[in-house]
Amino acid sequence: MHERHEIALLVVDDDDELRGSMARMFTRHGFQTQEAADGDAALTAAQCRTFDVAILDLKLPGLSGIELLQKFRDSHSECEVIVLTDEGTIEMAVQAMKLGAYDFLTKPFPARDLEKLIAKAYERGQLRRENLRLKTLLQRSQPKSEMIGQSPAMQEVFRLIERAGPSDKAILIQGESGTGKELVARALHYSSLRADRPMVVINCAALPETLLESELFGHEKGAFTGAVSAKAGLFETADGGTLFIDEIGEMPGPLQAKLLRVLEDGSLRRVGSLKERRVDVRLLAATNRDLIRDVEAGRFRQDLFYRINVMSLDLPPLRERRGDIPLLVAHFLGPHWELADEALQRINAYPWPGNVRQLLNAIERAKIMADDNLVRVHDLPREVIQGRSGRQRPAGIVSGDADREPAACPGGDPPDIWQLDDLWALERAKVVEVLRRERGNKMRAARALGIDRRKLYRLMEKLKIQTSEWCGDSR
Ligand SMILES: Nc1ncnc2c1ncn2[C@@H]1O[C@H](COP(=O)(O)OP(=O)(O)OP(=O)(O)O)[C@@H](O)[C@H]1O
Ligand SMILES: [Mg+2]
Repeated sequence: MHERHEIALLVVDDDDELRGSMARMFTRHGFQTQEAADGDAALTAAQCRTFDVAILDLKLPGLSGIELLQKFRDSHSECEVIVLTDEGTIEMAVQAMKLGAYDFLTKPFPARDLEKLIAKAYERGQLRRENLRLKTLLQRSQPKSEMIGQSPAMQEVFRLIERAGPSDKAILIQGESGTGKELVARALHYSSLRADRPMVVINCAALPETLLESELFGHEKGAFTGAVSAKAGLFETADGGTLFIDEIGEMPGPLQAKLLRVLEDGSLRRVGSLKERRVDVRLLAATNRDLIRDVEAGRFRQDLFYRINVMSLDLPPLRERRGDIPLLVAHFLGPHWELADEALQRINAYPWPGNVRQLLNAIERAKIMADDNLVRVHDLPREVIQGRSGRQRPAGIVSGDADREPAACPGGDPPDIWQLDDLWALERAKVVEVLRRERGNKMRAARALGIDRRKLYRLMEKLKIQTSEWCGDSR
């Protein structure tokens, strides 16, 4: 059974004396009570905290009680409303009940009965939330983004998602690059009560400090050069939902302090503004760094670390759950595709330093290269064939093309793991270059690329290469 002190109560009445005496009585009897003298005050109060039950007078200055009910309903407020009015007509009662009011009473109403009703209304609210939770649990059995994994380590991850998803706790997701941190964040969001609200993603490594600040917290018009209009930050966009902060270890110190404040008291100020805004956001964060070491080295605030790490979820690297590799391969290949035994052996033997993402890219690439929906060893990236994971250039797309250097990587050494996009850009550039050189003769271009004509057509289609790209300057 619930305790009264768990129940947050809002008393809305323009009659100061009546409101005051009700509020005092409810407080004395153990409820957490707050007062509002009109509709606007009630709305503001409800934006600042969640009320379980509201006692609502209908005749109010400004916003009427019915309009207020409407607003509560539109904002998916969880508050149960008991209407308590002096001259209620049947028509009004019907309208109020249609708008979801829990009960419709006329003054005067015995205080003792009112308290019983409040308790019942609170229970209905609890029940509604529980229903919603069950509904989300059900939805989860039809996952939006499929996460594959049979290994004990992944089963543990799924169990944690199931347990921790619906709680509102901040969770720190740790794991090497490409292990599925963002996928886990989505799964957590979709298994939470916030599933029908937005999940907003921001990557701290992708933005310079000033931009990161205004993206997260918003800014007022004229707050800095270029701020031509006011803009809400991602915290405001995510209100009611989830904010996923990726690579949180890269967040600069001053922003760490500002983030801590939002997490501590749920309020923020836009850049260039003094106004406090309240937000209700669940925070998920991810990092591929050892944050504890950053804390020890003074690079990451300890107090913030504890705030974002109420719970942590560690994603194991792919090489530590090799049993999942064949499942992932089958999933990424999709129906109608087959894999030669030897190709699977090479895939199984490879260490996959770029984890699931690297595996996904390798399979995507092999599907482009393969004939007849069968992936063979020579369709795999060179490093996988050779079983090495060291720093190296990606294999050129084209077999039999070893005499030509792959296009240079802008900005020095290429990363170990090539994003599919990068790989495609390289491959595209190469194919377009050969087509241009051969003046569009597909037969000769295919021969120069060491592939047959059919495969060239498939490549051009897959890479969306337009005729205009290679015939432009040769005509
Ligand atoms: N268990 C899994 N089942 C299916 N697909 C997965 C799984 N894990 C990861 N993926 C896929 O691999 C890719 C990389 O995953 P994700 O972006 O979540 O990794 P990450 O840990 O956030 O990587 P990074 O640190 O590089 O940002 C995505 O396309 C994702 O859908
Ligand atoms: Mg990521």
